[in-house]
Amino acid sequence: MNIIEIKDLKKDYPLGDTIVPALRGVDLTVEEGDFMSIIGPSGSGKTTLLNIIGCIDFATSGGVSVGGREITALNDRQITDIRLNKIGFIFQTFNLIPVLDVIENIEFPLLLMKKSAAEARRRADKLIEEVGLKEYAAHRPSELSGGQRQRVAIARALVTNPDIVLADEPTANLDSVTGASILELMRRMNELEKTTFIFSTHDANVLKYARRIVKIKDGLIEKEPVAA
Ligand SMILES: Nc1ncnc2c1ncn2[C@@H]1O[C@H](COP(=O)(O)OP(=O)(O)O)[C@@H](O)[C@H]1O
Ligand SMILES: [Mg+2]
Repeated sequence: MNIIEIKDLKKDYPLGDTIVPALRGVDLTVEEGDFMSIIGPSGSGKTTLLNIIGCIDFATSGGVSVGGREITALNDRQITDIRLNKIGFIFQTFNLIPVLDVIENIEFPLLLMKKSAAEARRRADKLIEEVGLKEYAAHRPSELSGGQRQRVAIARALVTNPDIVLADEPTANLDSVTGASILELMRRMNELEKTTFIFSTHDANVLKYARRIVKIKDGLIEKEPVAA
């Protein structure tokens, strides 16, 4: 099954009197359970594309279907539901909550979903174990290395059991060894949780972890996928 289907997606950003065409007709389908990378230089449209798939931003024209539902046909409540229940987002800069400790950061999305404290903690306990940070449960993000912070972000993205995890340049703020271990962890979680992963990068060194690679340039998919 195709968990994502994108047809002739265009996104224009108004900038003063002009328009910046960030995406100029993207066609893309992603199969359920895939582990896929979108690679392209800075400014090519990676963040725009991930934000639209993640319902953080919206297309100017074209079709975007996520989990079999056409995004443009949904109302605000349905969009919020997809964003909270179906999608996990991992950001380049981790975006952890500084005043919460590690376990509280991981369980935070479940509390937003009004899950009970006991259920949230049970699920967060499982994820903290899977990302190898059990002994850091009571630490604040400021007490962690970049790689450890990104592990927390991965656990937080997965704690709601989303269908899709989107990661926007998740290794960009990490050294290459740490970056490789983060990609390995994401790949392991992809296999363990059967979650579809899409990550963007401008770093060709991390591509060996992808099962499928899509190149983007100047707002267009440049080359059809090659086997990794
Ligand atoms: N909010 C915005 N307003 C105006 N232009 C934007 C905005 N966001 C992105 N852009 C432009 O859209 C293009 C694609 O940006 P982006 O998706 O961030 O690329 P990437 O993530 O590959 O670096 C760039 O030319 C960028 O300057
Ligand atoms: Mg970007």
